[in-house]
Amino acid sequence: MSSDEGGAIVTRRTFVAQVGRAGGFTAAFSALQMLGVMPAKAEAKPDLGMDRNSGKGVHVVILGAGIAGLSAAWELRRHGFACTVLEARERPGGRNWTVRRGTRIVLNDGTTQTCEFDQGHYQNVGPARLPSVHGTMLGYCKELGVKLEVEVNTSRSAFLQDDGVNGGVPLEQRQVINDTRGQVSELLDKCAVSGSLDKELSADDMQRMGAFLRSYGPLDANGAYKGSQRAGYTSRPGAGEDGGVFHPPMGLEAMLDPGFWRGELAEEDFDWQPTMFQPVGGMDKIAYAFAHGLGSIVKYNAPVTEIRRRGDGVRIGYTEHGGPRSLDADYCICAMPLSMVQTIPTDFSPAYQSVIAAARYSPQYKIAWESRRFWEQDYNIYGGLSYVVGGCSPVWYPSADLFSERGVLVGGYSAESPAFAAATLDGKLAMSRASVEKLHPGHGRELGKGVYVGWGRVPWNLGAWISWFGRNAAGSNHGYEVLIQPDGPFYFAGDHVSHINAWQEGAALSALRAVKLIGDRVKAA
Ligand code: ALA
Repeated sequence: MSSDEGGAIVTRRTFVAQVGRAGGFTAAFSALQMLGVMPAKAEAKPDLGMDRNSGKGVHVVILGAGIAGLSAAWELRRHGFACTVLEARERPGGRNWTVRRGTRIVLNDGTTQTCEFDQGHYQNVGPARLPSVHGTMLGYCKELGVKLEVEVNTSRSAFLQDDGVNGGVPLEQRQVINDTRGQVSELLDKCAVSGSLDKELSADDMQRMGAFLRSYGPLDANGAYKGSQRAGYTSRPGAGEDGGVFHPPMGLEAMLDPGFWRGELAEEDFDWQPTMFQPVGGMDKIAYAFAHGLGSIVKYNAPVTEIRRRGDGVRIGYTEHGGPRSLDADYCICAMPLSMVQTIPTDFSPAYQSVIAAARYSPQYKIAWESRRFWEQDYNIYGGLSYVVGGCSPVWYPSADLFSERGVLVGGYSAESPAFAAATLDGKLAMSRASVEKLHPGHGRELGKGVYVGWGRVPWNLGAWISWFGRNAAGSNHGYEVLIQPDGPFYFAGDHVSHINAWQEGAALSALRAVKLIGDRVKAA
């Protein structure tokens, strides 16, 4: 069974913390803005401070037509470079992948599935959300004419479930969030009243604190939390004499359960704070719009077989129509995930080779089902995510086509636990169905047309996002520090070469940075 989503969040946060040495996001964002390699808002085209002919007579080969490769090609072409993108698959987007009716999902575990969703339904089995703070990606959507709609990433009607809490009966997020707040406030108020905070707060501040907690909790005049309309009702209020009945506050043991509360914090992550967006019709609309604009610059079905130096430049071996080919260029932007680069012979310097060999990728998966929208019709849940501790989690409700009859529900998106990884395809789908059943008893049987995508098993992905870069003896992020520097004519791009790991924004910004570095080098020469 998969680890809970909280585990995945912590892993990613841990990673971001690892790479976000001094300064983290804010410093990285401001630094990139100062360098002119990211727009301050979505409307702006990236301004690299280079003119339209900066790259005249210079050829750059880009490895991989994921978001990093596509945006690198887009910017190189905008600035007068000649460029070629080599892509192993028959489609653009890389990990940005949307499955819909007829999509074949061929995994390297030997399984093949064909998506049978009804026409018009889809699932983004790679990235699925665009935060409003990811201005580069929103800017590209605007420039490429990709229509966006709101992705509802949180619903207070969605659930948290843990077998060890509330007898396994799921609790609404509005209740968990607000009861937690009420109970923490009550405890803090007790500390204040008992004098434990006397050293920290003056008498005046103590009084202000009391007033704040009465409102924030909310607490009654005696400092007790007795539930609140914020936490919802067992019987909703109506007209006349019907005032409704609050949920009795959940027990303190729910708040103290080690896994239960993690889902409560999901939307506090900087990148997951509302408002979030998604392309209408699927995330791959972005990749196809780039690809359409780039035309024959992108060669599909052209897997890279070797990455070599040639003089001051590069020679890339690849296959096309099954036959060996090679391509010479002045520079190379390696925009493949490191999990893929690990499988290719290269002339990278030893320091780079060892960083690449040490990299580890998170084996995330998504399972998606088509169903009647029982979550909307029977549970009042419109978008958002429910969390099942120890199960296939989260269960992610669709934001597209709200109020329609049927929709696509995600029943698990997390790193594969060993038990989940070892299960058969049918076994994995059964685990997912069981998790949905825990949240929505009786509705597991409504799920149909299930598909499973394990990112570690998708050829040319071999993982979701980097989860480990390796450290040097001094404990620093040696790998990251190496890879953000060019290795002779080779530049690295991808979300792993950014402080926004696991996001398309990081991929795009890393590509812009690589283009800028090449542009500066060409200018200096
Ligand atoms: N960017 C990834 C997500 O939003 C982590 O799920």
